[in-house]
Amino acid sequence: MSESAVLIVDRLCKSYGGVHALRELSFSVNSGEKVAVIGPNGAGKTTLFNVLNGQLAADAGAVVFDAASIGGLPPQTIARRGVGRTFQVPATFGSMTARENVQLALFGRHTQLRAAFADARAFEAKESLALLERAGIVALADRSCATLAYGDLKRVELAIALACRPRLLLMDEPTAGLAPSERATLMSLVVALAANDGVALLFTEHDMDVVFAHADRVLVLNRGRLISAGPPSVVRSDPQVRKVYLGPPTLPGNA
Ligand SMILES: Nc1ncnc2c1ncn2[C@@H]1O[C@H](COP(=O)(O)OP(=O)(O)OP(=O)(O)O)[C@@H](O)[C@H]1O
Ligand SMILES: [Mg+2]
Repeated sequence: MSESAVLIVDRLCKSYGGVHALRELSFSVNSGEKVAVIGPNGAGKTTLFNVLNGQLAADAGAVVFDAASIGGLPPQTIARRGVGRTFQVPATFGSMTARENVQLALFGRHTQLRAAFADARAFEAKESLALLERAGIVALADRSCATLAYGDLKRVELAIALACRPRLLLMDEPTAGLAPSERATLMSLVVALAANDGVALLFTEHDMDVVFAHADRVLVLNRGRLISAGPPSVVRSDPQVRKVYLGPPTLPGNA
């Protein structure tokens, strides 16, 4: 296992009753690396993310982040240690403004009780605006999230995820539901922010253009098992990956 691994996943297993969502899954992510997790619907991608950020307990196996075990810790502790997360369906409080949602995330970063006595409206107002600025939506800071377009909500989520100053960002389908041009813009922003901060990215994605444009390495899951892993060019031509997920190569003249 590499010396610079920020995340090590070792023989992770998770079942829902009789459904084996993760089977002996092992891989690592290096500091600053961009790794895509792909695979058909139901392959176990969201389950993996939910186990990594502490929302679900694994049945067996280990998760090591920054050289310390995080398996079994609650999500807020894992976030404070530096694992940020965005969701397949954006998870913001609709009645609150974009800025208030980010302020809440910043609030959660503090462990001291004194944070509980802070003036909620003023709490980390400057930093929350700075985070929204980085996500490209500072102009929408005072709009309630219920009124925001889907693509803007994805950006609020990104600002929230950055609030814990992550060293690893888990993104479950960051561009799902977006138009192709919006997808490329959002993913380029995420990659630029991650590179600037030295953050490693682990993301799931059904859009192969996004995957092959941005991932340093691709992990392929099928029915909870890792069936292929490597650089995009290698995974793309793996016959097993073609069979279960990508389909046959497009022949010249057939595009
Ligand atoms: N809460 C649950 N209870 C029971 N089964 C579940 C639950 N969540 C997921 N599953 C099952 O576990 C398997 C993995 O699901 P998961 O959502 O992790 O897949 P996924 O790769 O994220 O799929 P998608 O590409 O559709 O988002 C599937 O068979 C799914 O039906
Ligand atoms: Mg999913």
